[in-house]
Amino acid sequence: MEEEWSIERYISRKSVFKKNAEHTLSPSYVPKKLPGREAELQRLTLDFQSLTLDEGDYSVNIAVIGPPGSGKTALVRNFGANLVEYGRRREHNIIFEYIDCFAARTKSSVLSNILAKFNITSRGFSDEELLSILLKRLNNEDMHLIIGLDEAYILGGEAILSIIRSNDVYGSGSARISTIIISRLNEWRMLLNTTLSGRITDQITLSGYNKDTLLEIIQYRAELAFKSGVVSDEILEMVAEIAAKTENARHAIELLFRAGKIADRLAEDVITPEMIRKAKDEVFPEFRAEIFHDLKKHELLSALAIAKRLKHKGVISTTIDEAYEYYKTACEEYRIEPKSKSAFREFINFLTDLGLISNIVVNLGAGRRGRRSVLRLYDLPAEVLEERCRKILENKKF
Ligand SMILES: Nc1ncnc2c1ncn2[C@@H]1O[C@H](COP(=O)(O)OP(=O)(O)OP(=O)(O)O)[C@@H](O)[C@H]1O
Ligand SMILES: [Mg+2]
Repeated sequence: MEEEWSIERYISRKSVFKKNAEHTLSPSYVPKKLPGREAELQRLTLDFQSLTLDEGDYSVNIAVIGPPGSGKTALVRNFGANLVEYGRRREHNIIFEYIDCFAARTKSSVLSNILAKFNITSRGFSDEELLSILLKRLNNEDMHLIIGLDEAYILGGEAILSIIRSNDVYGSGSARISTIIISRLNEWRMLLNTTLSGRITDQITLSGYNKDTLLEIIQYRAELAFKSGVVSDEILEMVAEIAAKTENARHAIELLFRAGKIADRLAEDVITPEMIRKAKDEVFPEFRAEIFHDLKKHELLSALAIAKRLKHKGVISTTIDEAYEYYKTACEEYRIEPKSKSAFREFINFLTDLGLISNIVVNLGAGRRGRRSVLRLYDLPAEVLEERCRKILENKKF
């Protein structure tokens, strides 16, 4: 008779990862140590010195900018956590709220996220009323709030500025809200066009990581995640070498993570160079896989449409009109009512803001009047984009 199988049989299978440690390589994990970012941590500490020394409440507004995977998010979250801890030890009320503007896309959504932490429901109030409620609460409890606004350009300069200005309007003489604005370089330029730039107290520009720093970073991260003996020095060296080309720490960490998954799938005890080479084909360093989970249904379908069009051999770009036809087919496939073309255009604009696709407006030229959008993909191959869109469309409840 055939032996019955049970889930346990597979769950208890060995793994190269330490028990419950896989998440230490995930994008949402906030590392406790930040090799190579000591100078920036020190600078942030000095920027916020007036708060930590309780010298009165000033609004400190810092911009942290830099290329993909240079540790902007990790730096700010780590700093925020340490600042709160410092405040707690001194009975000085500092709170830090990290907001990912991919998920909370509007000012009112940012504010209601923050107010929810104070158990205040925000339904029915205008943004201005919410700010006034928040400031009153901070004043009453003698608290200072620091908001880490990640991917801040999605929110836009005006919205950020109005949060900062609320200090002047509702602060009763003491500023209670500070911000740390996080952005990639190009997107930061978009924000700078607004009057926001006048309120920025310090701008910290991170540069990409060199090989030696990447090596330090992954030595530390590999130690957290893998059992001893799984990752050799040779492997670490190889990963740092690959990621040094993009200067991107996410690149290095994702390579390790995927290679670890491959080792588990093959039931091997160590990560081999061949596994790293395999993993290399699956990692697209500029692409933030995590943002995918915040996309709404029709945005995913729009991305899927682009992927479906661009995966054809020899097709490197498409247009709104053409992509819209693919979008309608994609909707049909998932039995979802398609939206209008103007709505589709908005989805495409959002995907462009995310840096998932490039949307360049060109003049038609050569006797033809008018302009049109040319849609392309960056470093993510169309097949991969298609696969990832489908995975979420199939698994997520909308
Ligand atoms: N100095 C460091 N020490 C340890 N881990 C780091 C360091 N810098 C970055 N990381 C890790 O590398 C990955 C990418 O870093 P992070 O997400 O902070 O980059 P980013 O600059 O915010 O990139 P993006 O612009 O794509 O959002 C994360 O897993 C992060 O924990
Ligand atoms: Mg980031």
